Amino acid sequence: MKILMVCLGNICRSPLAEGILSDMVKKQNLDWKIDSAGTGSWHIGDPPHNGSITVAAQNGIDITQQRARQFSKRDFDDFDLILAMDSQNFRDIVALASDERDIEKVELILNYSHPKMNMAVPDPYFTGGFGDVFDLLEDACQHVLNKHKEQE
Ligand code: 4NP
Repeated sequence: MKILMVCLGNICRSPLAEGILSDMVKKQNLDWKIDSAGTGSWHIGDPPHNGSITVAAQNGIDITQQRARQFSKRDFDDFDLILAMDSQNFRDIVALASDERDIEKVELILNYSHPKMNMAVPDPYFTGGFGDVFDLLEDACQHVLNKHKEQE
């Protein structure tokens, strides 16, 4: 599986999602590729937000080596699954799709843990609450792992 996590800035939510799922995949010795990107360009090249780095470290996960990049059309070819943090991310990703096959790759990440609820991962850049975001993403990533491991 090749999975891309996407948020707006690629410094708060999607780097955490990448770090959490990468850690789970590594512990299970799975040969999966996990990455993240932002729909926006403001933070290209930046490391994750300190709040994300800190909460990841508190949970034994090092995300300090990550650098922000912008989502691009090429990502539809490079990934099997593209997981959006909120519905605006979802719409911005789908707007770059070339065909139905691209669109089918895009899902809201919290629909894995809360099916059909279309819930958003709250953006801690504006509201704080990195701990709650970590917990939501950890739960969702566990569901992502379980579902796609079964399908392999
Ligand atoms: P993220 O949070 O999408 O979870 O990385 C944000 C980071 C930066 C900005 C917005 C959201 N920004 O406007 O710069």
